[in-house]
Amino acid sequence: MRKLAIGIMSGTSLDGIDVQMALIEGSFSQTKIKPLHFLHIPYESSLKNKIKDVIEEKNLNLENITSLHFELGEAYADACIKLCETYKIKLNEIDFISCHGQTVWHIPKSIDHKTPSTLQLGEGAIIRERLKTTVVNNFRSADIAVGGEGAPLVPFADYILFRCSNKTRLILNIGGISNVTVLPKNGSLNDVIAFDIGPGNMMIDAMSKLFFNLDYDDQGNIAKKGSIIKPLLTKLLSHSFFNIKPPRSTGREMFGHQYINEIVKPFYAHSPYDLICTLTHFTAITIRDAIDQFVLPSHSVDELILCGGGSYNEFLLELIKTYIKPIKVIKLESLGFNGHAKEALAFIILAHHTLLGLPSNVIGATGAKRAVILGQVHHYNKSIKEDPYAHL
Ligand SMILES: Nc1ncnc2c1ncn2[C@@H]1O[C@H](COP(=O)(O)OP(=O)(O)O)[C@@H](O)[C@H]1O
Ligand SMILES: [Mg+2]
Repeated sequence: MRKLAIGIMSGTSLDGIDVQMALIEGSFSQTKIKPLHFLHIPYESSLKNKIKDVIEEKNLNLENITSLHFELGEAYADACIKLCETYKIKLNEIDFISCHGQTVWHIPKSIDHKTPSTLQLGEGAIIRERLKTTVVNNFRSADIAVGGEGAPLVPFADYILFRCSNKTRLILNIGGISNVTVLPKNGSLNDVIAFDIGPGNMMIDAMSKLFFNLDYDDQGNIAKKGSIIKPLLTKLLSHSFFNIKPPRSTGREMFGHQYINEIVKPFYAHSPYDLICTLTHFTAITIRDAIDQFVLPSHSVDELILCGGGSYNEFLLELIKTYIKPIKVIKLESLGFNGHAKEALAFIILAHHTLLGLPSNVIGATGAKRAVILGQVHHYNKSIKEDPYAHL
């Protein structure tokens, strides 16, 4: 049966909440999804600061983490309500909501000696109560429980949306972190590989804020005016993460404020244009290197489809095109999709499978031992009346 759903995504960029509404039916390769309405709702600065404080371990105490968990639940619910109001959709028409949550810490097995684990905040029960519909969230844990990285999870949706019988496609998402999905020509889900590449926009955003008080380098206009600081680029590229063979995943824990303080700060006397230019080249070079190291030895690539907020950085886009020549680069928009909205759309696909009792992790992406049903379900039964115990 066709369902009307909302997907909620808020990524490592901390730019805000993406909400996408779509109609979905069927499963696996028979899945049909029709994107309807999309909104991006920037985080209010006070909420963004609270998230940053937790991630950067400032003012870190259990009281702050606990209350942030529920405050985010309210923010996600508000975003869904705003989407419905904007497009005049009645709340009771929504069959389910899928919420990724805000990652505050990720400890993948590939890079840490601690127990592999991950934490996404945003209480699902709050969203369920405000929207009075079923909510699926906390997708990553089930994959970690079966030995996976818990990330990336979007490749399952990439396969459903973009697989092609006569082209090998790369889906490159540039968010705070960049990641790639390889969809081999005429391949099955078991042929899909995917992995995190490294920092996407995260460090560019941090320098744009510090030196220009801007949330990001719009279209790459700042980077375009600078030149590469070679010793900085060399240092950045020497990070050990780039030598880890996939499956691998990363986040702000590895390339966030600590890394910036250690590696980039010593170069703060240079022109900020040069700093941002260098970081933009860094993102593009890590993409090229990852493709060279981990994709091209086993696949010949027909086209690369670029999505995520980074695809709107024109300077970065041009650099990627130059670095990965002769691979053809196209934007997700040219396939009729909104490049900002794909991840939120992907989480609708994952939650839909969860509610059908079907798995949706991709073993070639996370390294899990087996396919599992992802997510936790906060059921809402719309047929239960005001006092469900009255007849008991
Ligand atoms: N017009 C633009 N020019 C340059 N960068 C942009 C533009 N629009 C968005 N971005 C970048 O995209 C980021 C958001 O990307 P997104 O895909 O939402 O990442 P995440 O999933 O990590 O939140 C912003 O922080 C910014 O760096
Ligand atoms: Mg975002």
